[in-house]
Amino acid sequence: MSSQITFIGAGNMATSLIKGLIASGHDAAAIRASDPDPEQLRKIAELGVATAPDNNAQARGADVVILAVKPQVMANVAAGLTDLRPDQLLVSIAAGVPMSSLAGWTRAAQPIVRCMPNTPALLGAGVTALCANARVSPAQKELAQSVLATAGRTLWVSPAEDQLDAVTAVSGSGPAYFFYLMEAMIEAGRSLGLSAETAATLTLETARGAALMALEGPSPAQLRANVTSPGGTTQAALEVLEAADCQGIINAAVAAAAERSRELATEFGR
Ligand SMILES: NC(=O)c1ccc[n+]([C@@H]2O[C@H](COP(=O)([O-])OP(=O)(O)OC[C@H]3O[C@@H](n4cnc5c(N)ncnc54)[C@H](OP(=O)(O)O)[C@@H]3O)[C@@H](O)[C@H]2O)c1
Repeated sequence: MSSQITFIGAGNMATSLIKGLIASGHDAAAIRASDPDPEQLRKIAELGVATAPDNNAQARGADVVILAVKPQVMANVAAGLTDLRPDQLLVSIAAGVPMSSLAGWTRAAQPIVRCMPNTPALLGAGVTALCANARVSPAQKELAQSVLATAGRTLWVSPAEDQLDAVTAVSGSGPAYFFYLMEAMIEAGRSLGLSAETAATLTLETARGAALMALEGPSPAQLRANVTSPGGTTQAALEVLEAADCQGIINAAVAAAAERSRELATEFGR
């Protein structure tokens, strides 16, 4: 029998997770969603999911309640879930909202999983890091992971939740770094005389191929060594990147994202 799953907030991420759950065989009748926007609810109801604007009514009796609202409204939404039972698992997918704040807004004994998905989750190609508080049972961990697995790969980080700042900096913001590199390569191709369309196709297909090779293994370092002939074209390019301390620049960029994530946790966690 499918677990009873409630989504609080029926926006982009909830829609994507609900579609993934149904596609992977979860009974749509065992999913509920709430949202103040009737248009959002209409779209979700088309998937066969029971919808209503009342968060508490939808959360009642669910095995897991997924908080899929923006971080800015999380305090109100979580504190408003006054009917939660202590055995109901709460899962937050909101960026930057600390576990301690979620525990404070609900009941202190609530089992809570906090996760950090990334945007490719909308295509089922995301990666999500999860962490759980001490109240979460092994079965609840499995349930949380199985929901997020419909949006791509999943992994647990432990022991400390503060690893999620680093996760946010690497995979949360990561798609934008790759988009930036793609933009830069397209522009470089154009400056060498390629049409914008040709430069874009070459860049995007190269990104896809390189990602597929790296996922298959060996390591990116080994793959790079394999395609870098001494005195060849690739080596000429890599020498320019190294002379500009590209690794140092990437370290600084990712560290800035992690620092911002820590700042936002203070802001959203209040
Ligand atoms: N999108 C991503 O790729 C991504 C990646 C990582 C993490 N996340 C996290 O996922 C969460 C959801 O993001 P999203 O992109 O799905 O946002 P979204 O499309 O804006 O969805 C949030 C939904 O929550 C609804 N909502 C607002 N107040 C509510 C309330 N009091 N009760 C119930 N529902 C309420 C919103 O309705 P209104 O529109 O009417 O306000 C909206 O439909 C965010 O916390 C974000 O940090 C998203």
